[in-house]
Amino acid sequence: MCGIVGYIGHREAYPIVIKGLHRLEYRGYDSAGIALFDGKELNLCKTKGKVADLETKFNGTTSTAGNVGIGHTRWATHGVPNDVNSHPHYSNSGNLVIIHNGIIENYSSLKKELKKRGYSFESDTDTEVLVNLIEDVMINEDVMLGKAVQIALNQTIGAYAITVFDKRKPNELVVARLGSPLAIGIGENEFFIASDASPFIEFTNNAIYLEDGEMAVVRLGKEIKVRKIHDDSFVDPYVQQLQMNLEQIEKGGYEHFMLKEIYEQPNAITDTYRGRMLVDEGIIRMAGVDDNIERIANAKRIIIVACGTSWHAGLVAEYIFEDLARIPVEVEYASEFRYRNPVIYENDVVIAISQSGETADTMAAIKLAKEKGAFVFGVCNVVGSSISRESHAGAYTHAGPEIGVASTKAFTTQITVLTLMALKLAKHRGTISDSGFRYHLQQLEAIPTKISKVLETTNEHIKEIAFKYKEAPNCLYLGRGYNFPVALEGALKLKEISYIHAEGYPAAEMKHGPIALIDEQMPVVVIATKVGHYDKVVSNIQEIKSRKGKIIAVVTEGDEAVKELADFVIEVPDTIESLTPLLTTIPMQLLSYHIAVMLEKNVDQPRNLAKSVTVE
Ligand code: F6R
Repeated sequence: MCGIVGYIGHREAYPIVIKGLHRLEYRGYDSAGIALFDGKELNLCKTKGKVADLETKFNGTTSTAGNVGIGHTRWATHGVPNDVNSHPHYSNSGNLVIIHNGIIENYSSLKKELKKRGYSFESDTDTEVLVNLIEDVMINEDVMLGKAVQIALNQTIGAYAITVFDKRKPNELVVARLGSPLAIGIGENEFFIASDASPFIEFTNNAIYLEDGEMAVVRLGKEIKVRKIHDDSFVDPYVQQLQMNLEQIEKGGYEHFMLKEIYEQPNAITDTYRGRMLVDEGIIRMAGVDDNIERIANAKRIIIVACGTSWHAGLVAEYIFEDLARIPVEVEYASEFRYRNPVIYENDVVIAISQSGETADTMAAIKLAKEKGAFVFGVCNVVGSSISRESHAGAYTHAGPEIGVASTKAFTTQITVLTLMALKLAKHRGTISDSGFRYHLQQLEAIPTKISKVLETTNEHIKEIAFKYKEAPNCLYLGRGYNFPVALEGALKLKEISYIHAEGYPAAEMKHGPIALIDEQMPVVVIATKVGHYDKVVSNIQEIKSRKGKIIAVVTEGDEAVKELADFVIEVPDTIESLTPLLTTIPMQLLSYHIAVMLEKNVDQPRNLAKSVTVE
């Protein structure tokens, strides 16, 4: 979590850094700060609050001059969000200044040592400890900044992406990463540092993504030298050509990124299957699967590891893989898996799902699976992300940048990739007929058009439903089979952006407890599509109705039976059961979105959350 930005070159640094922080605000937004070097002085301004608050604070109080700058937008780990704990942090001499994304786990013992040596600390952060440790190394070992950073980092335990500046060496920035992402944009005698490429995309398409355990001295007029932190060996940096464009990371006329991303889903899903699914030929091409087909198709078991919304996509995939490819699947919270001493066999295939590709728990789960000899397949959205690099093979979702903290298009494109994978394996294993395979492809091809229809025909109606239930303190979401994970996802969306308590349940589990909650105040969102245990779900709806619960039902177009029972129905087009989540999810997203807007919540940056969870 936290976003870092740096600039060194011939332009004014402030506008680049401040704009970059706005773009990275999805990573954390409880405080922000910038340090600028104007050739003589380091000027620093920081504040609790958002990047916009930082801009206001700069006005008139702090000079924005200088061609070197580093900035930070924070998601607090050590120390409450306040002005003092905000980054950047100075060293005691005032010569060094640092920004840091991550956690130094042994900061407390390091701090004790530094205090004994006379250092004092203003903040409660681990980062201030790190910058003083670097300073201490510089003084005691009489080394330059790059070497001091390396020695200091070798004394730390934890995770970091850092940028350090020494005002006595104004033509260089020192950067390092372990566990948190860091990209270096390379321009014409200018360099950009950032947690992802969005802050510098309008300036350059060339970037180096540091790998875990690497650092670099970024010096004007020199080539970038990358080395390993632990043994000082040089690494050949790979300069990547970025594919992102500016339009993709701006709101394009929508009020919020979340709404834009909801509406992008038809195109995003088309992008996910484009070039992979050849409907007329009856072929699915996925290089990551094709190259490892025997390994994956002969897996005794597939273990899916993920967190949050990606975990919900994993649950949908469990149904698809077992149903179509007949391979047993277990779906695990990455955070539990990594600490459980799980049984992992060499012939297991682990699928790691992650939009950001940076989630610390998922990354740790992958490392554990690799240690035990399992084959790891990554399903990520962010190209070049840590999880995609750490996996043996993988498939990108190609959803484009997802900026809204609440995941939307990432979820549906993850399901799309996993459906393609399951179909491909099913064909290889002979668990699906040729005609069944082709039929699935045709149905999947039709999904984007059907989503467009859902967006067109239901949005206004969902606004009315949102208005009616926006004050509800609780909400229940029910679904069965493929739509049970959609119920979980619907509840998560409502919780995280509107702060209304919501629970998702398999509809049949209601009678084992949650039914006690139902009274005339309780809205219950039920997914009751024609395919997938329809009659059973209708019985569950009857049970809710007889306890006076308010029913919002997502049904297949033309359904009459549920209309009789429900307070509101939202219709989605018909499709095959395995693809219903791609349609039924859309009303869930819209409902939570409109409720959050009506409650005047910060839709794109809900409280306490961050887009990329790079801490445990
Ligand atoms: C919810 C949401 C989170 C993420 C979770 C995993 O809307 O976005 O629950 O799904 O933090 O993130 P990734 O997919 O980046 O690993």
